[in-house]
Amino acid sequence: MRMASRIVAEVLDQLVAAAKAGVTTLELDRLAEELTLKKGARPAFKGYQPGAVIYRHSLCVSINDEIVHGIPKAGRKLKAGDIVGLDFGVVYHGYYGDAARTVAIGKVSEGAERLMAVTRKSLYAGIEQARVGNRISDIARAVQRTAEDAGFAVVTDFAGHGIGRKLHEDPQVPNYFRPGMPNPRLQEGMVLAIEPMINEGTAELEILDDGWTAVTADGKLSAHFEHSIAITAAGPEILSELGNV
Ligand code: MF3
Ligand code: CO
Repeated sequence: MRMASRIVAEVLDQLVAAAKAGVTTLELDRLAEELTLKKGARPAFKGYQPGAVIYRHSLCVSINDEIVHGIPKAGRKLKAGDIVGLDFGVVYHGYYGDAARTVAIGKVSEGAERLMAVTRKSLYAGIEQARVGNRISDIARAVQRTAEDAGFAVVTDFAGHGIGRKLHEDPQVPNYFRPGMPNPRLQEGMVLAIEPMINEGTAELEILDDGWTAVTADGKLSAHFEHSIAITAAGPEILSELGNV
């Protein structure tokens, strides 16, 4: 799992470097796939079909008001002022890794910068709680508090997840918590994908006719950061961050 997540981190680094104004989202998708195959891994999202519609790409690229699951397109060029979520996963020798970052293209608004910084901070606040003996709610509440204290809204229609021999395993890792929700205790050896999706405006979302792309209902910005982390006796280990493995 360390290797799978390391590959995800390396590919994301190269995608971030390639994400410039004028580049199409399909070009980023192709690059992600090519780099992954070269490293002896397979893209995890390609062919994924949780519901009615199969996902045919390797990467999700979600721009501005797109929250997650944006589909790469030949006609979609990045432009200065965009914020771009890059969400990527691989499978390596049967084990999955999954991570996401949101990056700015050229100069973006102060509001966009703040949204990205707070979303990233909420991810790290959640990771900090990923300790033996804590519960899912400790992660969820830390994420939620960080986002809401900054005046932003947590997306509740999607959640993080366990990860291992499948992309999505139990437990669900929501970014908010209410009594009555499943709330298992965290155990040594669990690996979780923690992934706050944070909106500038309201939490409401819509799914586009493509059956995948989630967009904010109010058209305001959204940001997404994700890491695959392992719960160890020594604390959380961020598998999808280079330098940590
Ligand atoms: N990183 C996302 C997740 O954690 C992406 C999976 S959806 C897919 O669920 F369609 F892109 F595969
Ligand atoms: Co995920």
